[in-house]
Amino acid sequence: MYRLIFSLVVRRLPTEFAHHGWLLLVRCGSWIAPLLRKVRLAPSPDPRGVVRVWGLDFAGPLGLAAGMDKHVATVRGHIRMGFSHVEVGTITPKAQPGNEKPRAWREVPLRAVRNRMGFNNKGAEAAAHRLARLRKSRSGRCLIVGVNIGKNRVTPPEAAAADYAACATALAPYADFLVVNVSSPNTPGLRDLQAVEALRPILTATREAADASAGKRVPLLVKIAPDLADKDVDAIARLVKDLGLEGVEATNTTISHDLGPGGLSGPPLFPRALEVVARLRRVLGPDPVIIGMGGITSVEDAKAMLDAGATLLQGYTALIYEGPAWPGRLNSALTR
Ligand SMILES: Cc1cc2nc3c(=O)[nH]c(=O)nc-3n(C[C@H](O)[C@H](O)[C@H](O)COP(=O)(O)O)c2cc1C
Repeated sequence: MYRLIFSLVVRRLPTEFAHHGWLLLVRCGSWIAPLLRKVRLAPSPDPRGVVRVWGLDFAGPLGLAAGMDKHVATVRGHIRMGFSHVEVGTITPKAQPGNEKPRAWREVPLRAVRNRMGFNNKGAEAAAHRLARLRKSRSGRCLIVGVNIGKNRVTPPEAAAADYAACATALAPYADFLVVNVSSPNTPGLRDLQAVEALRPILTATREAADASAGKRVPLLVKIAPDLADKDVDAIARLVKDLGLEGVEATNTTISHDLGPGGLSGPPLFPRALEVVARLRRVLGPDPVIIGMGGITSVEDAKAMLDAGATLLQGYTALIYEGPAWPGRLNSALTR
């Protein structure tokens, strides 16, 4: 059914317009899902699928990756759809408009998406306000929310640590885990912060700010690009161990393509994402969490990513092509 809707309607709409339409539907749909569940039209989470990480019970491995909900508007709706968690963001200290439009394109034959959004978001204060509202209710406190943070476009690299720390101070009290994003290709110079000498002070400052603000240890992860050389992946894994970080997210979008500007997500990313996850696991050893993502679509993809060493999974692009039943279907299949 969704495939028909996609080919008749969704693929004819400009990508960003469809994105906003989707977010609106999810906000409305979050109130309809419990009714659908009552008449057995939507699957309920299966307790056998629970993954326990950092003392939290994830109702399945698959969560929603960063970039879909930059304004903390659809956490409840996406979790009711079947994701076990939602990572909001990327959020920067100050609001910024992002790059000029158009800035997102569907690559339909590849079932992929290309984007150069550039961290359009309303800033840390607005996000903190919305998260505080979500966390006010008991049901809102039960939702597992990761918060992905970045630096403003105008912030020079030498001041980046202060941007990440500012976001951590504002947002850590509401986050189940925090993710330092140094891997989006659409903020000039951001990916250079993956070099360990640049990354170490950023992660140290973020850790201190997050834990001081939340009054407890907040799980801290770093999100990396698929385009890193293997030796740089290894170096980041060693840094993560050295600093005692809780984990790594792999991977962000790739710039290794010739389709036009922006980072590519979806199936073309999968083989390298899998390789990076396996490599990270070899160097990290068994303990730190790896959240694997990049083109996960089928149950086989998800299983391969878990077998490569991922603890949890995330997806974004497959939701566009497979529709709202996809997360629940995948999490249920992984339980079986
Ligand atoms: C339109 C779009 C916007 C994105 N924005 C962000 C972002 O703001 N921050 C981030 O860390 N990743 C962002 N991503 C990357 C995803 O979180 C994910 O790492 C990537 O798309 C690979 O997963 P997928 O193939 O399942 O989509 C974005 C992806 C897309 C398609």
